[in-house]
Amino acid sequence: MTPSVVIKLMRVFLRMRCNKPTFVSFNSLNACNEACPMCSVWRRGGGMLSIEEMEPIFRDLRSFGFMVTEISGGEPFLREDIYEIFALLDQLGFLYTTATNGTLFTTDGIERLRSAKGLLQLAVSIDSLDHSTYERLRGRDFLAVVLQNLELLLAAKLPFPVKLNLVMNRINYRETFAFLEFAKARGINLSVFPINQGEGFFHRHSDPQFRATEEERQEMAEIFRELARLRRAGEPLWEYSGFYDLAADYVLGKPVGPCNAGKMYIDLNADGQVAVCLDHEGVGDLRTTSIGQLWQTLEGQSDNIKACYQGTPCFYTCTYNISLTARNEWAFLCETARVRIRQFLKRRT
Ligand SMILES: C[S@@+](CC[C@H](N)C(=O)[O-])C[C@H]1O[C@@H](n2cnc3c(N)ncnc32)[C@H](O)[C@@H]1O
Repeated sequence: MTPSVVIKLMRVFLRMRCNKPTFVSFNSLNACNEACPMCSVWRRGGGMLSIEEMEPIFRDLRSFGFMVTEISGGEPFLREDIYEIFALLDQLGFLYTTATNGTLFTTDGIERLRSAKGLLQLAVSIDSLDHSTYERLRGRDFLAVVLQNLELLLAAKLPFPVKLNLVMNRINYRETFAFLEFAKARGINLSVFPINQGEGFFHRHSDPQFRATEEERQEMAEIFRELARLRRAGEPLWEYSGFYDLAADYVLGKPVGPCNAGKMYIDLNADGQVAVCLDHEGVGDLRTTSIGQLWQTLEGQSDNIKACYQGTPCFYTCTYNISLTARNEWAFLCETARVRIRQFLKRRT
């Protein structure tokens, strides 16, 4: 990590502490080469912003104070201009992360990632290490190619962390600790989050195959509590332990408290619409309107956000992990330092 990235990260933590606009989740396109039954993004179709359209939008967001963007989709690596997007974000001084299904990497592409200066972390979503379960959860049997690409990514020793994403649900929760061992064996981190429940725009499902029984919920909650304990003990889990503790409540259907969407976090959709988060309707088009003009409208969504988290909340990392990390920065930083030191010592032995 370069000194300029470290300084920017310090500013990010400061902004989070003050609940200031900091994070933009960018849905770079809706199209995907997988078809996860739990996800609605790939079903939506529609266009995507061109690099020329992105430039003024991200410049505007940056001057408004936003500093970090999560590039998601759809599958971001379906975009031929994905490396140009990274270059644009670097030029504008953004830090960014990206989530991918890991199916589309080539050796050349992996080498190009090396020049993405602001890339903080690359998440590879896998969801199962078993071929038939992977196909059931991701709609295609791409597990072999993903695992092969993951080894290529790790062999390249890239200057940013690669992590695994596991969306825990009643079909795959028994694999959680095998995933942790898999990540540990490769010296990488694991991110685990519960499948979002209820109806919604993008990252929600209403598929009955995900409707967990009371016993399954109890078992998933136990696993999340154990993940919280392991995170505190320095195991390579990406999220703050408080996120896993609260995830246990979430899968049991208990209240999860306020959500900071629309304050330090907003969502930019593939069609230029800006919203408080993925599950809320856009309030305007950033191609034609500035974020400053729309900010009051976004702030005015607080009743909708409240109705959402008091009704059927999501439990997505963008809102709940960021909010919890912001409220517990010092504990988060101490825990994360313990994880990194353990990883470093392990690599040396
Ligand atoms: C929508 S994908 C887009 C990026 C990329 N295609 C990928 O597979 O990571 C981003 C993340 O959202 C997760 N996701 C999709 N639907 C979800 C749901 N209903 N609940 C929780 N996470 C979900 C995916 O598993 C993935 O980790």
